[in-house]
Amino acid sequence: MPPDLRGTMRAFATGVCVASTYRDTPGGRRHNAVTVNSLGSISLDPPLVSLSFGRSSAFLADLLASGRWAVSILPAGGRELARRLARPSAARAADVAGLPARPGDRTGALVLAGASWLECGLRDRFDLGDHTLVVGDVLAAGPGTPQPTLVFVYGEYHSVADPAITTVDLSGPGHWGEIL
Ligand SMILES: Cc1cc2nc3c(=O)[nH]c(=O)nc-3n(C[C@H](O)[C@H](O)[C@H](O)COP(=O)(O)O)c2cc1C
Repeated sequence: MPPDLRGTMRAFATGVCVASTYRDTPGGRRHNAVTVNSLGSISLDPPLVSLSFGRSSAFLADLLASGRWAVSILPAGGRELARRLARPSAARAADVAGLPARPGDRTGALVLAGASWLECGLRDRFDLGDHTLVVGDVLAAGPGTPQPTLVFVYGEYHSVADPAITTVDLSGPGHWGEIL
């Protein structure tokens, strides 16, 4: 019997993000945004992050065409937005058009107001099984407004009300800012 990867990974709590990119068409720039939880922090020097998308993802096609994207880490108040942006491409178009967001300075991809964010340029892609892993150079990044954060585990959204944002010093010698 194949391993139950999906059933097992349900127990792994992740943050929830909105990834954004765009496609330039003769009619103008068409933004795209989607809910993701596959964000990975790969390297600090150089700064690299990854995302993983289903091979048939329309968002992935736009991202590979532009080579540019942004990631906004959702606060707890973003739960409904996360739900809406997890719908198929056509169904979420109106939500994308109405996002409380600005085009990032380095990429032009949408960055959500108040969220911690990253802007990325495509460094590499790896087709792995039924997904494609994209690795991006982090071109710019910034912290959001300190606020409760959104977590996804066992197929549900949760709020972490006290993420101790202001008390943990992330400038330490540990790779992840841990206290050594
Ligand atoms: C919490 C959550 C996390 C998700 N993370 C990913 C992800 O990392 N990669 C992915 O391809 N789809 C992910 N999805 C599904 C997408 O939000 C979306 O349904 C899918 O990309 C739509 O396909 P499209 O790109 O063809 O429009 C996630 C959905 C939810 C609810």
